[in-house]
Amino acid sequence: MYTTELTKTAKIENLEDPELLEAFEARVAADEFIEPNDWMPEAYRRTLTRQISQHAHSEIVGMLPEGNWISRAPSLRRKAILLAKVQDEAGHGLYLYCAAETLGTSREEMILALHSGKAKYSTIFNYPTLTWADIGAIGWLVDGAAIMNQVPLQRTSYGPYARAMVRICKEESFHQRQGYEIMIALANGTAQQKRMAQDALNRWWWPSLMMFGPPDDNSPNTAQSMRWRIKRETNDELRQKFVDISVPQAEFLGLTVPDPDLKWNEAKDEGRGGYDFGAVDWEEFYAVVRGEGPVAKERMKARRDAWDDGAWVRDAAAAYEAKRQQRLAA
Ligand code: 3HC
Repeated sequence: MYTTELTKTAKIENLEDPELLEAFEARVAADEFIEPNDWMPEAYRRTLTRQISQHAHSEIVGMLPEGNWISRAPSLRRKAILLAKVQDEAGHGLYLYCAAETLGTSREEMILALHSGKAKYSTIFNYPTLTWADIGAIGWLVDGAAIMNQVPLQRTSYGPYARAMVRICKEESFHQRQGYEIMIALANGTAQQKRMAQDALNRWWWPSLMMFGPPDDNSPNTAQSMRWRIKRETNDELRQKFVDISVPQAEFLGLTVPDPDLKWNEAKDEGRGGYDFGAVDWEEFYAVVRGEGPVAKERMKARRDAWDDGAWVRDAAAAYEAKRQQRLAA
């Protein structure tokens, strides 16, 4: 499947005007932003539309596992914080759909692609949130992984995407802290609370490592996306950084990362040191990407129902706009 996709990309690229392509690549190499009205290769437009829309879908689907806990938050303070976080995710979805629309695909087309299963969203949101500790683990690990991936995207070569990422990263940073603060409270609470925190870490650790995508040598898009500076760091580089930052955070909590092969390696990263870690279960990752995640069906049903339930709002907005145009024309 990936070979076909790559061959298609290469063919389209060969059809591009070589002078325009050269000028485009020189601008990217000089770290200039590419803007919506600038010339760009079709494969660049297609990759960005895929990545940004997948990112937008992830933000919106990502509201579901946490939204699930708003009515069960353990205090008013926790509830207010969680509400704000879930609303932030909706805002991130909106910035990202807007950025993707500047590439020529409508929001409706993108949403229909999600609902038909053609477009992907992050694997992480296909796992259930079983206890309140999961809200802590999601903030700490899932938002932590998102920040690790998204901070470099503030320097991605497409201007509207890069600018959207600046605000998103600030908010993700707050999300990560609220999650870690929940984990601190649980890890220092009763024995039962500490067990809940450990259980959440056990269940979210490996899926969080999968968020960064397949290993570089099995990632069909990384090489081209690095060349066009859509991605600024590879999947494996970001995964390694995430492990290196998160392990001491787990130690501070007094929790154990569920990986018997985890070991500090002084020689790693040209002598700067880093953790060796165990093998990710890539079979599980690909199964979840195929839509076989534990709560994948539930998530898609919730999204489709929300779209159907919102039809009257879209109809009312369209009718209002039609009336406004009529008045302007009169
Ligand atoms: N979940 C689902 N699909 C994934 C995936 C994941 N965790 N990781 C990779 N894939 C898909 C890719 O989309 C690609 O699909 P394709 O068949 O359409 O080409 C395929 O697997 C191969 O992967 P590649 O590594 O070649 O793909 P990319 O170069 O696009 O890299 C990525 C994948 C690192 C996720 C990259 O797209 C990216 O950085 N995206 C922007 C960030 C993003 O989407 N984050 C979502 C996280 S959740 C979030 O932000 C919400 C927050 O509130 C927590």
